[in-house]
Amino acid sequence: MWSKKDIPISPVSITDMVRLVERRDNVKVIRFDLAEPCFDPPENAVNFTCKAVLEGYNRYSPTKGLLELREGLKLFLEETRGVSYNPEEIIVTPGSKFSSYCVFASLLKPGDEVILLTPFWSSFKAIPMLLGIKNIREVLTDPLYKINHERFQNAVTRKTKLVVLNTPNNPTGGVLDKSDLKFIVDLAVEKGFYILSDEVDWAYTYDGHVHYSPAAISNGFEKTILTDSFSKVFSMTGWRVGFAAGPRNIIDRMNIVQQHTVTAPVTFAQKACLDILSEYKEYVKTVVGLALRKRNTIIEGLKKISRLETPVPQGAFYIFPRDRCKLNSETLAMELLNKAHVAVSPGTIFGEGSEYNFRICYALPDEDLKEGVERLQAFFESAST
Ligand SMILES: Cc1ncc(COP(=O)(O)O)c(C=O)c1O
Repeated sequence: MWSKKDIPISPVSITDMVRLVERRDNVKVIRFDLAEPCFDPPENAVNFTCKAVLEGYNRYSPTKGLLELREGLKLFLEETRGVSYNPEEIIVTPGSKFSSYCVFASLLKPGDEVILLTPFWSSFKAIPMLLGIKNIREVLTDPLYKINHERFQNAVTRKTKLVVLNTPNNPTGGVLDKSDLKFIVDLAVEKGFYILSDEVDWAYTYDGHVHYSPAAISNGFEKTILTDSFSKVFSMTGWRVGFAAGPRNIIDRMNIVQQHTVTAPVTFAQKACLDILSEYKEYVKTVVGLALRKRNTIIEGLKKISRLETPVPQGAFYIFPRDRCKLNSETLAMELLNKAHVAVSPGTIFGEGSEYNFRICYALPDEDLKEGVERLQAFFESAST
């Protein structure tokens, strides 16, 4: 049985504290903590959803998801990842977080080992812990999620069953290059582990960095379970539609987990997502351009705070500054919330080695972004005088 105190907190749980502070001080807190793009969903998303309800997409869908959506996702994954899946090798889930849950639940047995590259999104640790998996190894990456090959190789044992990759990375914004992915895939083949590849931010890459999936690297297909979502790239967090693609036997096992837990994702939301896929490229180009502009704004602002060391993110919509004064990130986050009315996620929830970092999600409306940066500058300025 797990103990509540051992489970890393989810960044979404900061909301309660924010509400208390807003009520107490009668202010609006700037929410740099939420991992949610502020962009509107594609123009037709709401219409497509209403249309799907009126057309009768109101009953249980097949537990793997609507076949027509899985056919649409087949094309989408060919176009965006260069990997060709059969629709039976794809499962639609209520959000990609549940895809990850199904991967852990269908692959791991007690005694198996999971490797997480730190910093990691906290659910990658919480989910196996909730499932009773005790052997979770954290392997430190270098700044911007750069894999140290020797460190990684030394962490792999005969018990290693699953390695979790997340590129573009939450929280650093680092993007893994092809050679790093090839290194991991080759090791997966040699040592026999699987790769959970979380690619929810696949489109958000900048400055010439490109997203690659390990599934597209030679020999990677059989070793990779790719997870993705309509939440981040299509700004459709509330629709709760995610998906996973991988070898048929694993996807079928994930389907059993889904059948006995949530049954299937919401049917009319799936139909709306299918309709979105008929014309998505312009939308994606637009939101990535907006995110890049916001990234440049936050970099400009943080550069002026000498106390922070801030590697420039290559992708996603997060930035992960480090406090040179080494104030523990939980203390710092509480001070920022209470004194500057800015909510951030403390580095400690992203695993070992990030105790002096904090995560900012900068995909906020421009006026909030500007106000948030000014509040951060004022806070650090007054803290250093
Ligand atoms: C890396 C990563 N994976 C998955 C998710 C969950 O996304 P979804 O809304 O598809 O469950 C998040 C959300 O913050 C995330 O940051």
